[in-house]
Amino acid sequence: MPSLFSSLQLGDLTLSNRILMAPLTRCRADANHVPGPLMAEYYAQRASAGLIIAEATMAMKGNSAFWREPGIYSDEQVAGWRQTTDAVHAAGGRIFLQIWHGGRACHPLLNDGDQPVAPSPVAITGDDVHTPEGKKPYVVPQELRDDELPGIVVGFAKAAENAKQAGFDGVEIHGANGYLLDQFLRDGSNRRQGPYGGALENRSRLLFEVVNAVSEVWGGHRVGLRLSPINSYNSMIDSDPIGLISWLANRLNNFDLAYLHLMRGDFFQQQSGDVMTPARAQYKGTLIGNMGYSQEEANQAVTEGKLDAVAFGMPFLANPDLPARFKAGATFNQPDPAKFYSPGPEGYTDYPTMVSS
Ligand SMILES: Cc1cc2nc3c(=O)[nH]c(=O)nc-3n(C[C@H](O)[C@H](O)[C@H](O)COP(=O)(O)O)c2cc1C
Repeated sequence: MPSLFSSLQLGDLTLSNRILMAPLTRCRADANHVPGPLMAEYYAQRASAGLIIAEATMAMKGNSAFWREPGIYSDEQVAGWRQTTDAVHAAGGRIFLQIWHGGRACHPLLNDGDQPVAPSPVAITGDDVHTPEGKKPYVVPQELRDDELPGIVVGFAKAAENAKQAGFDGVEIHGANGYLLDQFLRDGSNRRQGPYGGALENRSRLLFEVVNAVSEVWGGHRVGLRLSPINSYNSMIDSDPIGLISWLANRLNNFDLAYLHLMRGDFFQQQSGDVMTPARAQYKGTLIGNMGYSQEEANQAVTEGKLDAVAFGMPFLANPDLPARFKAGATFNQPDPAKFYSPGPEGYTDYPTMVSS
């Protein structure tokens, strides 16, 4: 029976353990969304993860949803990320890049006045977006025309190519947390008519076009997909999340993906339901679970065969040597939310390892 400390084969890639680092936006790139040496240091500190999934990264220009999140559409960004991939590889780690389009979560003040785009003109409510001018309400997005969608698919494929140039081991497509691809998937945000709206087959059309295009760049075995069918973050809701994940997990068998990465819960605990069991039942490939797992629960899920690996977000954010701490039964540093998105090394690269604490 495998444990969290067993190796895991993802296609031709061997991960040294099943303790993965979940993608975490930290807003430490520069104003042009270029990653620098501080980000390389942060990721290299966490190279003992079986796989690092680096933070949501703008696949295309003009779709910033955070302030100073990284991109992968310019030569400077590719060169910037190269510092991270080199540092992680030198430390013996593996790293995928999460490629992303923010859709309606973007804001004109972050994008030279450009309106955000989305499947339907429905705004995120009940929360604000951080902009250079302070917190602002989200705006009503512009509805994408069907003939604009091939450009989005090409943008993801180009980002995947750039990630290869930057030295990543693969990419994770961000289909979770209420960003563009998820906005198409769920019927609360997708009110379209036509080939990209209505039935599940239509709402998932853009996602599968992206999966297909990115798989052509990397080969499916170096492409992961992240989904969060019951997360209400970013005003997301669906009338049948279990039906949605069951259907998607089944259809994903048509692609030889590295993994399906599933968030099991809701940040705001407004929506509930077991998405993991139907996903495991339908999906024949590697399944990664995430969200609120302790070491014990994660290990049990892996030994019982319910999951192949577990991604840890906040535990890895605050504990660069998380696998070693798990092994030693050590105590954990606690994350400092006030520093999640603040500039500089504080609350970023200064969490101590066991030896230094
Ligand atoms: C500061 C912060 C940034 C995050 N950024 C991302 C992101 O860029 N992409 C993503 O898919 N999820 C993101 N998430 C969600 C995490 O990957 C993860 O799903 C969440 O923290 C729950 O897992 P955990 O209980 O192990 O922390 C973020 C979460 C936090 C706290």
